Amino acid sequence: MGKGDQVTPIIAGAVHRARSDEDEALSGQFKLRQRKYLTCCGCAAALLLILAVVSLVLAFTVFRVKNPIVGMNQLTVTRLEMANGTLRKDVNVTLLADVSIKNPNVAAFRFGNTTTTIYYGGSEVGEGRTPGGKAPARRTLRLNMTLEVVPAKLVAVPTILKEIGTGALTVESRTRVEGRVKIMNMIRKKVVVMLNCTITYNVTSQGVHEACWRHVSF
Ligand SMILES: *[C@@H]1O[C@H](CO)[C@@H](O)[C@H](O)[C@H]1NC(C)=O
Ligand SMILES: *[C@@H]1O[C@H](CO)[C@@H](O)[C@H](O)[C@H]1NC(C)=O
Ligand SMILES: *[C@@H]1O[C@H](CO)[C@@H](O)[C@H](O)[C@H]1NC(C)=O
Ligand SMILES: *[C@@H]1O[C@H](CO)[C@@H](O)[C@H](O)[C@H]1NC(C)=O
Ligand SMILES: *[C@@H]1O[C@H](CO)[C@@H](O)[C@H](O)[C@H]1NC(C)=O
Ligand SMILES: *[C@@H]1O[C@H](CO)[C@@H](O)[C@H](O)[C@H]1NC(C)=O
Repeated sequence: MGKGDQVTPIIAGAVHRARSDEDEALSGQFKLRQRKYLTCCGCAAALLLILAVVSLVLAFTVFRVKNPIVGMNQLTVTRLEMANGTLRKDVNVTLLADVSIKNPNVAAFRFGNTTTTIYYGGSEVGEGRTPGGKAPARRTLRLNMTLEVVPAKLVAVPTILKEIGTGALTVESRTRVEGRVKIMNMIRKKVVVMLNCTITYNVTSQGVHEACWRHVSF
């Protein structure tokens, strides 16, 4: 009994020590595996974070769809026929608008048929239609738009004679360019660019002066 009493603890201790050694080894292995696992997780997380940041930066820079800029460079009257001191009613007044479409995107801006409407005193007096096209990536496209003002509609506006008497005639033009930018088949965005201009025709010098406002909506 006494022997057993003495032996048991030793054995128990040995067993305990052995078990604890084994445990330590096991837990060490486990810790190592856990550390490897954690390192792996950390790496993956860091990689994901880098990817997320890169995607975010790209989304806000290269892949962000920026507004194309439509500008009126020059406007010239190419045809204006007078008869007996007044406008000939059977011939349209023709204007040539030199328009540029600047595309700051990394992909082409494709746009459809573009219409320009000319207003005088709140009424529509003329228009111009330009076929659609494509402004290449990071390029400026130059377009010639032909605008036609119908004299009959113009002289139908009561204030016309009074205004011509002052030596200048002011009309408004509204151009609407609707298109889309498609970046690598992933990002597609519809863009509508408006260009409103105030066109002043100097009757004495026959010169044209224009001032424009841009407006973009998505
Ligand atoms: C303009 O003058 C021509 C002759 O030069 C004449 O035949 C025509 O009837 C006139 N038109 C108007 C609208 O007065
Ligand atoms: C654009 O204009 C052309 C010629 O005027 C016409 O044939 C075509 O159908 C128009 N396209 C659209 C989308 O309106
Ligand atoms: C004048 O312009 C209008 C459009 O603004 C057009 O419908 C009409 O055919 C033109 N007339 C002539 C004579 O070119
Ligand atoms: C626009 O018209 C002007 C004058 O007719 C011409 O010199 C120029 O090459 C034209 N531009 C385009 C892009 O058609
Ligand atoms: C029209 O042009 C002439 C000559 O350039 C100038 O003297 C005159 O002030 C202009 N008129 C208007 C209304 O701008
Ligand atoms: C241009 O004209 C359109 C049509 O009237 C109007 O809705 C828009 O606000 C104008 N844009 C600017 C910038 O004046």
